[in-house]
Amino acid sequence: MNEYDYIIVGSGIAGLYTALLAKEQGSVLILTKGSIDECNTKHAQGGIAAAIGHGDSAELHYRDTIAAGDGLCDPEAVRILVEEAPDRISDLINFSVPFDTQDGEIALAREAAHSVPRILHAGGDATGERIEVTLSNMAILAKIGIMEHFLATEIIVEDGTVSGVRALDCQTGSIEEFGCKSVIIATGGMGRLFRFTTNPDIATGDGIALAYNAGAEIADMEFFQFHPTALRLPGMPPFLISEAVRGEGGILRNTEGRQFMFDYSPQGELAPRDIVARGILFEMRKTHSGRVFLDVTHLPPHKVSARFPSIYHFCQEHGLDMTKSPIPVAPAAHYMMGGVKTNAWGETNIAGLFAAGETACTGVHGANRLASNSLLEVLIFAKRIVQRSKEEGWRCDTSKGEHYSLSERGASGTVPPLSLAALQSLMWDKVGIVRCGEGLEEAASILASGQQTLEMLCDRPSYELSSLILSGRLMAEAALAREESRGAHFRTDFPESSADWLRHIVFRKGD
Ligand code: FAD
Ligand code: SIN
Repeated sequence: MNEYDYIIVGSGIAGLYTALLAKEQGSVLILTKGSIDECNTKHAQGGIAAAIGHGDSAELHYRDTIAAGDGLCDPEAVRILVEEAPDRISDLINFSVPFDTQDGEIALAREAAHSVPRILHAGGDATGERIEVTLSNMAILAKIGIMEHFLATEIIVEDGTVSGVRALDCQTGSIEEFGCKSVIIATGGMGRLFRFTTNPDIATGDGIALAYNAGAEIADMEFFQFHPTALRLPGMPPFLISEAVRGEGGILRNTEGRQFMFDYSPQGELAPRDIVARGILFEMRKTHSGRVFLDVTHLPPHKVSARFPSIYHFCQEHGLDMTKSPIPVAPAAHYMMGGVKTNAWGETNIAGLFAAGETACTGVHGANRLASNSLLEVLIFAKRIVQRSKEEGWRCDTSKGEHYSLSERGASGTVPPLSLAALQSLMWDKVGIVRCGEGLEEAASILASGQQTLEMLCDRPSYELSSLILSGRLMAEAALAREESRGAHFRTDFPESSADWLRHIVFRKGD
C-alpha cells in the first residue's frame, strides 16, 4: 500500500490550495472523482470578499458576516476569517491569480449584505475559473500526485486515528487503498440534492458521508442557501446570474414588470440572500409564474458586457440580449452552510482527519453565508490546517453543540428504491426554500426508506446517490428538529426566530 503524509480528497480550490501548501511539509496525493477541473470552484462568478479597500476594515467585514449568519456564527472563526483575509489574498496574488484592476488598483465590487464594495474578481465574472486554472497548473507543475477518476469511498480509522483512504477507481471498478498520516476532505457541496441547482454534477455530499461514516461530527445541516437568481429557461439547467449584477444596479421585476423587493426588505435587491430568495418565491406564487425578471436594461450596455462577459455571452447563446430586455430568473439550490464540524484549525473530532472548503462547517457562516465569503473561508482554513498538521498531538474540542442521532423510521410495506430524480424533487418540494413540519416528516421517512433500499454500491452513480440520500436525511432531520425560522431555514409552522434556538444541531453516527 502506498503511504503519504497527506491525502487530499477533491481538486477544487480547497483541495488544490491545501495541496500546494502541504507539499512544503511532506508527500501529498490528491484523489478526485472526475477530471481535475470538475468542481464548484470553476463556476464561481462574483469573487472573493476581503476588507482591502479604502473605507473598509476587518471590523466592518466582521459585522456584515455576523449579521448575515443570524445569531449562529462562531465569533472566533469569523474574527480569524476577516483578519487573515488580506494576507491570504496576497498569497493568491503571489500565485499569479489575475484579479481585475481599475486605475492600477484591485477593483472591488459590491454584493448583497456587504456594507461596502469588497469583492475581488477576475475575468469579470470568471473568478472561479481563473482561480481553478491557476491552482491546477501550479499543482501539475509542482508534480503533486493527482489521481483523477478516483472516488473516495471510506476513511480508514484505526484506534481513533486516521490511517488512510479507500477509493473506487471509476475506470476499472476496483477498490484501492492508500495509507497516510492526515486526510483532508475537500469534496465541496451537495447542490445536486435539489431539482434546481447552480451546482455541477460533482456536488453530491460525498464528504458528509465519508466523515459521518468514519464517526466525525456533522453540524448545521438545516442551513442550505438558495441563490435568488439563476437563469430559468424551459428544459435547461439553471445558470447562475451573479449577485454582483444586482450589486451593479440590477432590478428584480415580477411578471407584471413591477419592482417588488422593497415590499420584502428596506434593502431591496441588496437584502441578504435568504430574504431575496424568499421574496422571489412569494412573488412567483402571487403572480402564478415560475420566474421573475432581472432587469439591467437601464445600465450602459458596454458596462454590462465588459463586467459580466460570461453571463452576457451565455444569455446571447440562448437568444437573450440582457442589455435590451430583462432576463427570466428564479432561485436555485446553491451552497451548504453546514457540514463536517471543525475547529479553527480545520480539525474534526477524529485525529488526523481535517475538512476544508464547502464540505466543512468552520462556524463562519452560521445560518446564512455572506456572499463571496466561501472562497475566502477556504484560503483561511486550508492554511491553518497545514500549519496545524505540522504540530504534534491533537486538540479538537467537540463540546460545542447539541448531539442528535438519526431516528429510526420504519418503512410500511415494500418501498421501491429512491431514484436521483425522485430524491431531487422530494428535497426541492419538502426541504427547500420554505419548509413545514409535515413536509419535513414525510421527507425524513422517505429518505430513511431510501437508505434501506439502496442497491449495491459498485460505481460512481451508486456511491453518489448513497451520499446524497444520507446528506438529505441529515438535512431533513435537522430542519425538523429546529422549530423556528432563522437565516436560510424558514418554516411556515414556526415563522419566527426563537432565543431558545441559539444553538447548533450536531449529528454523530451511533450517538
Ligand atoms: P469544489 O470546488 O466543489 O471541489 C470539490 C472537489 O471534490 C471536486 O474536485 C470533486 O470532484 C471532488 N470530490 C467530491 N467528492 C469526491 C469523492 N468522493 N472522491 C474524490 N473526489 C471527490 N463562492 C464565493 O465565495 N464567491 C463566488 O463568487 C461564488 N460563486 C459561485 C457560483 C456558483 C455557480 C457556485 C456553484 C458556487 C459559487 N460559490 C462562490 C461557492 C464556491 O464556489 C464554493 O463553495 C467553493 O468553490 C467550494 O470549493 P471546494 O474546493 O470546497 O469544492
Ligand atoms: C454570485 O456571484 O452571486 C455567487 C457569489 C457567492 O455564492 O458567494
